[in-house]
Amino acid sequence: MKNLLVTGGAGFIGSNFARYMLQKYPQYQIVVFDLLTYAGNLDNLRAVADDARYTFVQGDICDAAAVRAALRKYRIDTIVNFAAESHVDRSILDADAFLRTNVMGTFTLLQAAKELGLERYHQISTDEVYGWVDKPAVEDDPLIPRSPYAASKASGDLMVNAYYVTHGVPTTITRGSNTIGPYQYPEKVVPLFVTNALENKPLPLYGDGKQVRDWLYVTDHCEAVDVVLHHGKIGEAYNVGGENERENVEVVKMILDTLDKAPDLVRRVADRSGHDRRYALDLTKMRALGWQPRHSFEQALTETIRWYENNAWWWQKIKSGEYREYYEKQYGERLRTSEAVTV
Ligand code: NAD
Ligand code: TYD
Repeated sequence: MKNLLVTGGAGFIGSNFARYMLQKYPQYQIVVFDLLTYAGNLDNLRAVADDARYTFVQGDICDAAAVRAALRKYRIDTIVNFAAESHVDRSILDADAFLRTNVMGTFTLLQAAKELGLERYHQISTDEVYGWVDKPAVEDDPLIPRSPYAASKASGDLMVNAYYVTHGVPTTITRGSNTIGPYQYPEKVVPLFVTNALENKPLPLYGDGKQVRDWLYVTDHCEAVDVVLHHGKIGEAYNVGGENERENVEVVKMILDTLDKAPDLVRRVADRSGHDRRYALDLTKMRALGWQPRHSFEQALTETIRWYENNAWWWQKIKSGEYREYYEKQYGERLRTSEAVTV
C-alpha cells in the first residue's frame, strides 16, 4: 500500500486523515479526490498544500470516468472512501444527494476498484447504521437505520459487502461514532454549539436533550482507520468508538463551562424527527487489533473547543456564506418558538 486515493479528503475527518497519513508514512502518496460540496474546504488541507506527496483532484465519486482517470494517473492501490453527505438534519430536509453520493458513489468506486484490481477498498461508515440501540452494537448486528442519512450509509455498507462476496474486491469497513476535533463543519452539534457560544448566540437543543452519543476524537478515528488498513481482515467491518457515551445536556453544559458562558444561551427547540435516543458500540473487535481510543471525553472536547477559539478565521468564513440560508431553514422557526431551559 503506497498510493492512496482519499475520497472526501477535503471534509472534516478525511482532511485530518490525509494530514495524519502524510505525517506518519513518509513514503506514501496521498491523492485527495473531492467534489468540494458545501462541506468540502481546501482550507482544511492548507497545512499539506506544499507537500510533494500530496495532490488534490476536484471530482465526483459518482463520475466513473473521472474516478478511473485518477486511479490510473496516480497508480492508486488503495481507496479510502470518506466522501459522503454526512448530516442527518440535511437528509431530513432533502435526501436526494445522500442517495446519489452515499449509495451510487460508493457503487461507482467499488466497480472501479474491481475493474482496476486495487489492493484495497476501505469504506468509512458510521454507528448510525445499527439504528437506535439498547446495548452496544457488535459488527454482526442487523443494520436498522432510521434516518435517510443512516439508510444511505447502510446501503453503502451492504454494497461493499456484496462486492467482496460476489466479486472478491478486498474490502474493509470502519463504523465510527460521533467524531469531534479541528475542521468540523459547524452544522454538527459540537462545532455549532461552540461557535454559537463564542458569538453569544443561542444553542438550539433538540427535545429533552437526553439523547446519548458516543464521542470520539478525530485523531483516534484516523488511527483506527490506519490500523484496519494495515491489520484488518479482508471482508470485515470494525466498530470504532470513543467509549465516551454522554447525554446531549452534558455536552452542552461542558461547552458552556469551558467557555465560561451563561447557561441561558441554551434554548429548547422542536425535536428532530425520528431522533435516535442512543448510539453505542462494542469495541472488542478493534481492541483485538491492538487499537483503543486515546482521548477521554474531557480531553477530546477541550482540545476541540480550544481549536475553535484559536481558529475563528476558519469558521467565521464558513458562517458568513451560504451557511446562513441553511441556518435559517433549519433553526429560524425553531428558535422563534423556542423556550428557555436549565441545563
Ligand atoms: P464532511 O461532510 O465534513 O465531508 C464530506 C466530504 O465529502 C466533503 O469534503 C465533500 O466535499 C465530499 N463529497 C461529498 N459528496 C461528494 C462526491 N459526490 N464526490 C466527491 N466528494 C464528495 O464529512 P465528515 O464528517 O468528514 O465524514 C466523513 C465520513 O465519515 C462520511 O462518510 C461520514 O458518513 C463518516 N462518519 C462521520 C462521522 C462524524 O461524526 N462526522 C462519524 C462516523 C462516520
Ligand atoms: P449531530 O451532530 O447532528 O450528529 P448525529 O445526529 O449524526 O449523531 O447531533 C448530535 C446530537 O445532538 C443528536 O442527538 C442531535 C443533537 N443536536 C441538537 O440537540 N441540536 C442541534 O442543533 C444539532 C445539530 C444536534
